[in-house]
Amino acid sequence: MNHKEIVLSGIRATGNLHLGNYYGALSKFVRMQDDYDCLYFIADLHALTTAPDPKALHENVRNILAEYLAAGVDPEKATIFVQSDVPEVSEMYLLLNMHVGIGELMRTASFKDKARKQLGITDDADDIERRIIGADTNKRVNAGLLTYPTLMAVDILIQKAHKVPVGKDQEQHLELTRRFARRFNSFYGVDLFPEPQNFDFGGAPVKVPGLDGSGKMGKSEGNCIYLVDEEKVLRKKVMRAVTDEGPKLPDQPVSAPVENLLTLLALTSGPEVVQQYRNAYADCSIRYGDLKKQLADDILKVTSPIRERYLDIRDDSEFLARVVRRGAERARERAAATLAEVRKAMGIIKFY
Ligand code: TRP
Repeated sequence: MNHKEIVLSGIRATGNLHLGNYYGALSKFVRMQDDYDCLYFIADLHALTTAPDPKALHENVRNILAEYLAAGVDPEKATIFVQSDVPEVSEMYLLLNMHVGIGELMRTASFKDKARKQLGITDDADDIERRIIGADTNKRVNAGLLTYPTLMAVDILIQKAHKVPVGKDQEQHLELTRRFARRFNSFYGVDLFPEPQNFDFGGAPVKVPGLDGSGKMGKSEGNCIYLVDEEKVLRKKVMRAVTDEGPKLPDQPVSAPVENLLTLLALTSGPEVVQQYRNAYADCSIRYGDLKKQLADDILKVTSPIRERYLDIRDDSEFLARVVRRGAERARERAAATLAEVRKAMGIIKFY
């Protein structure tokens, strides 16, 4: 029996992983696997809420699995599995939904965002609730998208996880998970679920910006650097990143797009390098070509070895199968135990 704290996290199977996934989640997965009892999975059911293309889905699961392994998640240390290989999750999702409010789900930022996109709403002032209810059946917002946080909460609670290393964008989902855990425990007078916390190695959860000068790096924003980008492609992307026209006056505040590049630089190159460019910005000697070259070089130091291993692993179907089969067995065993407790607490008791 081991008494390490339980860590669980997953990434949606919607495409290759980018630097945002790496710094928000994957790099922490690797760092945590020695000290915690870790479970890492590929969220294929969650992918269905926005990307229901069967062929692409399976490819994406394979890619992410290979990327986990290539980045250093070790199947000898951590449990690696595919979400849909644990059917107990789907059953508990149904059960937990009985205690989740439609309103609290509709207020979730990620839901509002994605619902907007699905309905093609661009006007911020638009009354989103009314548009959802009034949407015709061809342009609907699917119920799976609404209950996304329930499914995520179940992923976490069914494994009784204590720590959930995720990026800042997932904070609200974690907050809901804690609320559902408390609600379930107190409604049934049980002490089944710990309240899971986000995890970062000191400091606040990282927000990884994109290259387009705007917000975070995200697949749908089209501003990503992928872990498996070829060197040429990667350099080109970085060299094209949005900056500004250069500081005109000494000690001017750094503009948002340049600040984004410095944030990326802080992740890949460390604080001294960033300070050097900050100083150059302050005395107006900064050259964006140098900054970008440094950034590209340093990103490649992180991604090139991952890409190489990925290319080897991705086509090794036997190895991948072995990893997830064993992972599924372990994850299911624990999930089944929790599900039995949940059913019992709720009064679902067999007559035979
Ligand atoms: N929602 C997460 C994301 O988009 C993926 C996810 C699903 C997850 N279930 C989870 C993360 C459970 C942590 C724990 O990245």
